[in-house]
Amino acid sequence: MITVDLKNLYPFISGEKLCALEPEVRAAHKRLEQKAGPGAEFTGWLDAPVSYDREEFRRIKAAAAKIRMNSKALVVIGIGGSYLGARAALELLRSPNYNLKQKDTPLIFFAGNTLSTDAVRELFTFLEGEDFSVNIISKSGGTTEPAIAFSLFRDLLERKYGPLAKERIYVTTDREKGALRKLAEEEGWESFVIPGDVGGRYSALTAVGLLPMAAAGIDVDAVLAGAGAARLEYGRKSMENPVWQYVSARNALYRAGKRMELLAYYEPSCRFFAEWWKQLFGESEGKDGRGLFPASVEYTADLHSMGQYVQDGERLMFETVLFVQNPRGSLAVTGKNDRSLSYLDGMLLSEVNRQAMRATALAHVDGGVPNLLLSVPELSDEVFGRLVFFFELSCGISGYLLGVNPFNQPGVEAYKQNMFALLGKPGYETKRAELNRRLSDSIVSQGKNERSF
Ligand code: PA5
Repeated sequence: MITVDLKNLYPFISGEKLCALEPEVRAAHKRLEQKAGPGAEFTGWLDAPVSYDREEFRRIKAAAAKIRMNSKALVVIGIGGSYLGARAALELLRSPNYNLKQKDTPLIFFAGNTLSTDAVRELFTFLEGEDFSVNIISKSGGTTEPAIAFSLFRDLLERKYGPLAKERIYVTTDREKGALRKLAEEEGWESFVIPGDVGGRYSALTAVGLLPMAAAGIDVDAVLAGAGAARLEYGRKSMENPVWQYVSARNALYRAGKRMELLAYYEPSCRFFAEWWKQLFGESEGKDGRGLFPASVEYTADLHSMGQYVQDGERLMFETVLFVQNPRGSLAVTGKNDRSLSYLDGMLLSEVNRQAMRATALAHVDGGVPNLLLSVPELSDEVFGRLVFFFELSCGISGYLLGVNPFNQPGVEAYKQNMFALLGKPGYETKRAELNRRLSDSIVSQGKNERSF
């Protein structure tokens, strides 16, 4: 279902070199499955597609049906792993223009993923005249961005619906821990669980992603079935396994000096899937001074911008192309209005896209950019589940191969601590004084630097 084509890797990495990694990949995969590696307490996602709580799954579908019935809009509040999976699914399986074309399902807006005043105000203005519900998603229950957004949208709901507002709040958080769980219990809001052994960026196939997906009319049974099938298929311990092929290729390229993996896609609906992928790999592998930098490009649009760098700039990167073989519909090019297009007359636009992909791969290979091709037959609910599991498993194995813990994210704390201090959070007084001193010093030193240049 997901195929990996490595022929445009071989000019750079020999088949023997790749095969030589087999014992390490096997060991990493085993460590992951046997829960014997670092961060093993966060590997519950490995079994989630089959061991999920059936009763909760039924409640998720019931809540989605209620939202569809009583709300014109659903505001999904969350950030990082509590945001990107749902948005990736919505755009990939419905459309980046979902809110313009949906009919029987609610408009879906994402909030709490920035600190932008304009973004919140715009949504506020829109929602004032509409019936809406809110799904607040936070595993820790205390992340600043979603906490601020939830507080604002809760206020709006309560002003609009009074005591009935509680019927429109859906909480997705840890089973026991965190401020949000406590609040949900106190207020009697309907709530769903992010399992303790599933970290944020591995949680797309739990209630985190499933409730917004179900509200948008996505077939969540099919999504989980796809992930379940992938779990079986990619559990195979062999170089025939597409996960092993992808993992070995990217690791061999890293060892050969590549420092950046560009996920290239040719369908705009994959944009947020690429954002989800970037978080998954960036947060999982980028630590201890190691890791490929994950970036993404949307082709063919970016061939007219970033394409120059990819072809001809620093030779830092390789490309992983995520290609969808069959679009949902078909459209033929017409040459009748433009003679310069007459050679394309009658050709399917999807064929033009496919040839653009093939042409680009060869050009980039000639420019020194290895190219891995990952193809899926189409973008269906089932394929989405498969893709999520494929990349999660690849990421877990890759992290162990790299020698890092792919399930923690110590690096994201640094900015948070500084932000709390600067915002005057109690307990951060000493840090605040130190940061303010550094910030005022840096203005002076900037001046000095300018002079020394
Ligand atoms: O992968 C992760 O753990 C993070 O990206 C989190 O998902 C993100 O920081 C949001 O955290 P929370 O769900 O606790 O609000």
